[in-house]
Amino acid sequence: MAGTLLFYSRFDEPQEWLDHLAETIPELKTRIHPDVGDPLDVDYALVWKPPTGFFAPFANLKLVINLGAGVDSLAGRTDLPDVPVMRLSDPDMVTQMSTYVAAAVLRYSRDFDRFEADTRARRWTYVHPRRQREITVGVMGLGELGLPAAQTLAALGLSVRGWSRSPKSLPFPTMAGLEALPAFYAGLDIVVSLLPLTGETRGLLDAAAFAAMDEGTAFINASRGEVVDEAALAAALASGHLRGATLDAFRTEPLPAGAPLRDSPNLLVTPHIASIAGPRGSAPEIAANIRRLLAGEPLRHLADLRRGY
Ligand code: NDP
Ligand code: OXD
Repeated sequence: MAGTLLFYSRFDEPQEWLDHLAETIPELKTRIHPDVGDPLDVDYALVWKPPTGFFAPFANLKLVINLGAGVDSLAGRTDLPDVPVMRLSDPDMVTQMSTYVAAAVLRYSRDFDRFEADTRARRWTYVHPRRQREITVGVMGLGELGLPAAQTLAALGLSVRGWSRSPKSLPFPTMAGLEALPAFYAGLDIVVSLLPLTGETRGLLDAAAFAAMDEGTAFINASRGEVVDEAALAAALASGHLRGATLDAFRTEPLPAGAPLRDSPNLLVTPHIASIAGPRGSAPEIAANIRRLLAGEPLRHLADLRRGY
């Protein structure tokens, strides 16, 4: 017996997930919240943004599976039992994030943002293409999605610099820790945030951070809106200090009509689509982890909620 999995999400179609799980782990029993049955039967919870108090009835829970990569909605809760928390990052999600970041970066590195403006203004301005190797992209966050995105940029011929919490040895230069940030920002053409939202990263991209970036830097955020001080970003765009910004995540989604960023020049907004967890890609990863748990083997894709990601 594989046990019972409970599904909860207000944003995802449950049956699609349960069908793909049934294909990959047919012996698993499944339930869709609020049809919980006996809460003591629930072994695994596959959840996205469950409400406060959600976990309290499930005394026999053995694994929480976050239906997405960012576990910020699970961190700091008091109703979560001390069980492993898995986050999703299947190969489809990796490809989606890497191609999103590549598209956003190439738009600046090949000057498409300028040609878009020229096209709208019926202008013809010759801008000589820069050698991609001479354009340096700083990637903040080198995790399960961030590292493949950085590697994709390097494979496209851009110069890449990485920043993370712990030091890393990679084929491109990397830096770690808050004290390295001024040196990290210096000389970058494009900054990409793939940082999780934690106590340490909340508001990290603030007025001081944008001021530390060179004049003309472009900024891309594909992680969480709360890592950015949106008013400071709006000011850095309005003053022309930043060349432009591409944002996929916001403090409030959809971005409200009156938000300071709404009127920002050179801003491209995408509606939180950089990388979406889907059942086809993720069901096999979930099934594999449930099988590992049953076999007493080490689990993969684990988040550490004390650390916050
Ligand atoms: P991971 O949790 O795998 O990796 C996080 C990375 O950030 C690690 O490299 C970590 O450093 C680094 N980091 C964490 N805290 C700090 C800090 N205080 N200072 C410096 N570096 C830090 O995340 P993923 O790569 O899988 O995803 C990143 C985020 O992207 C997710 O948390 C989620 O919020 C967001 N996301 C957005 C999506 C969208 O559609 N817009 C889709 C999916 C994810 P270290 O390596 O040293 O641990
Ligand atoms: C995620 C997201 O964290 O879609 O997976 O934002």
